[in-house]
Amino acid sequence: MPGTRLANKTAIVTGGAANSRGAGMGRAISELFGQEGARVAVVDLSPDGQVTADRIREAGGEAIFVQADVTRRADVERVVRMTLDRFGQINVLVNVVGGSFGEREFLDVSDELWQRVIDMNLKTVHLCCQLTVPAMIEAGGGSIIHISSTNGLMGCPGLAVYSGAKAGLFGFSRVLATRFGPQGIRSNVICPGIMGQGKPDRRQPLGRTARALDIAQAALFLASDEASFISAQILAVDGGHTTTYPEIF
Ligand SMILES: NC(=O)c1ccc[n+]([C@@H]2O[C@H](COP(=O)([O-])OP(=O)(O)OC[C@H]3O[C@@H](n4cnc5c(N)ncnc54)[C@H](O)[C@@H]3O)[C@@H](O)[C@H]2O)c1
Repeated sequence: MPGTRLANKTAIVTGGAANSRGAGMGRAISELFGQEGARVAVVDLSPDGQVTADRIREAGGEAIFVQADVTRRADVERVVRMTLDRFGQINVLVNVVGGSFGEREFLDVSDELWQRVIDMNLKTVHLCCQLTVPAMIEAGGGSIIHISSTNGLMGCPGLAVYSGAKAGLFGFSRVLATRFGPQGIRSNVICPGIMGQGKPDRRQPLGRTARALDIAQAALFLASDEASFISAQILAVDGGHTTTYPEIF
């Protein structure tokens, strides 16, 4: 029986392909949103975003896939256009695309690597927000969720640029929340901890790694009207890891 927590809402979720090499948060968020009644625009560079959209439809939901590189303004404009053409409104944006690229030693970081990490983690979010906010205002409000990291909260040894980019989302999100709060737009950040399908892990006090579904359930809450008075917040979904991090990493 499909749920209704996101009934009558249209959500754009970036990074939702079914074959990602990472934790698969975008796919899990897209599918959970679809199960809860959202019309979902799954966005990814990989054509396997289509698989996620197909799964949502097979489960009785509504979804489209838009293949796009969200570091490119023209691509994001196309995402917004196709979502509005198909579903008529945009109420939720989840910025999942992000990541690090083999960064290890700060003194070795090239300008090219710095730019790539910043583009992947901040330019993507900047473009997606700038181009969807007008549609959210038109819809009477909305919820924006940024996927950051506990690395942004605490600073990960060896990941200076990634940690800095993920921390950059905190200020960015707060500005969106204050600037567009009067138009009904909420902006919040989720910081996932150590991901890994729930395997036992002593580094996180709850004794296991996080599953993509753990992050998706937090995103569902923040996207839904249950969180209608929650904005400009940072939520760690990390089994308590920030209490020991980065000493125990
Ligand atoms: N995996 C982790 O351990 C972890 C931990 C904490 C935070 N995070 C953050 O969570 C988010 C999701 O991580 P994940 O591991 O679930 O990701 P993932 O690797 O499973 O999925 C990322 C998706 O983004 C797509 N993508 C990459 N660049 C793109 C672009 N320019 N345009 C469109 N699509 C693009 C990829 O094709 C992929 O499908 C990221 O922002 C990451 O920084 C990850």
